Amino acid sequence: MAREPSSVPLVAIAADAISRPRFTALPPLALYVHIPWCMKKCPYCDFNSHTAPAEIPEDAYVDALVADLEVALPSVWGRKVGTVFIGGGTPSLFSASAIDRLLSAVRARIPLVPDAEVTLEANPGTFEREKFAGYFAAGVNRLSLGIQSFDDGFLRALGRVHDGDEARRAAEAALMIFGNVNLDLMFALPRQTVADARRDVASALQFAPPHLSFYQLTLEPNTQFHRYPPPLPDDELAADIEEVVLQQLGAAGYAHYETSAHAKPSRECRHNVNYWRFGDYLGIGAGAHSKLSFPDRIIRQMRWKQPRQYADGVARGEPLQEDFEIANRDLPFEFMLNALRLTEGVPTSLYGERTGTPLSNASRMIALATEKGLLSPDPAVLKPTALGRRFLNDLQQIFLADAPRTGVIAHAAPQRVVLQPPAPSR
Ligand SMILES: C[S@@+](CC[C@H](N)C(=O)[O-])C[C@H]1O[C@@H](n2cnc3c(N)ncnc32)[C@H](O)[C@@H]1O
Ligand code: SF4
Repeated sequence: MAREPSSVPLVAIAADAISRPRFTALPPLALYVHIPWCMKKCPYCDFNSHTAPAEIPEDAYVDALVADLEVALPSVWGRKVGTVFIGGGTPSLFSASAIDRLLSAVRARIPLVPDAEVTLEANPGTFEREKFAGYFAAGVNRLSLGIQSFDDGFLRALGRVHDGDEARRAAEAALMIFGNVNLDLMFALPRQTVADARRDVASALQFAPPHLSFYQLTLEPNTQFHRYPPPLPDDELAADIEEVVLQQLGAAGYAHYETSAHAKPSRECRHNVNYWRFGDYLGIGAGAHSKLSFPDRIIRQMRWKQPRQYADGVARGEPLQEDFEIANRDLPFEFMLNALRLTEGVPTSLYGERTGTPLSNASRMIALATEKGLLSPDPAVLKPTALGRRFLNDLQQIFLADAPRTGVIAHAAPQRVVLQPPAPSR
């Protein structure tokens, strides 16, 4: 079929061709696998998670994940995966044999680096020692446990399905079986005082896990807490609580290497660090996001969000709900949205390596952020100052393009979503 003559002026085509990304080496690649079910939806949570049906279709879902991966393989041909993250939702609702089948299918289709980090997210309410041991035997070598708090009262206020004792038992077993463990906790909980928070941090530190994530509880749109807000600490108290949390974790030898992440030396989460350094990731499973680079472009994709739509889409060979190329003018913001979460920032040279575009595209914004005291004046690094970390949103916003945005900004990390897609995908 003959193509219609284009009405785009030649100059515009030439300008676009000049400004396309150019990669000599592609960024490191990670694999994210989304499991979209939980025992019960928590009232504060806006992740793509759904209360599980009485019978979880785990076999059918693993089949769909494998079919999804097969359709995606041509987009990552010849590349090795450095980290795998099985997140959710609550992946620990799945049996060890389902996770074993999933990881075997992944390994048979895509090469993993020899020491690949393989993380699975677990909820203490689904804890069974044999199951954890089964995940380890299947190749999971890092467990991320959603503790939130060790205090029964706060766990109740958060609508959690587990109590403090179950959290402690799960943490103990996880450390025994995996060694490499993250505990997720939240602070600024309903009616929490500084003393309450101090006790929770002390409880977490008793386990001396290699990694701790401390998130400030936020009221997310479309959650029950947003509709019926609980009595949260005011900004001043929340800041006091955060200061105590940071001080205790620092004193215990944890480096605060990212907005919400704290690690013992060399125990940072490699998978998340890849997101923050603007690495590539292939996300499979309901609602999973991908960011993939090619020699002359960077694309973002999102899979169908609802588990049913996703299963149908995969069956038709069409797992994608969204698929688009990131516009060049969006790259400064996309890169900085991630990189400036890191306390130490990134080497300046990483900008060109990971966006395939010259740093000069962002130099006006860098100068402005530096002038405002939000970005370090050291030209060798792109690093937030202490003020920049405190006002991270303001710092990141400086990098927004002036022109109207065309695409979706997303993240696939299990951290907070910062900007939402314009499409009705949530
Ligand atoms: C996707 S959840 C995975 C963990 C697992 N599903 C669980 O909750 O046990 C990742 C983490 O995000 C954090 N989180 C979820 N909603 C949040 C909110 N509204 N504010 C702050 N942190 C939140 C929680 O600490 C949670 O453990
Ligand atoms: S916080 Fe975790 S367990 Fe609760 S609904 Fe969200 S993903 Fe599920």
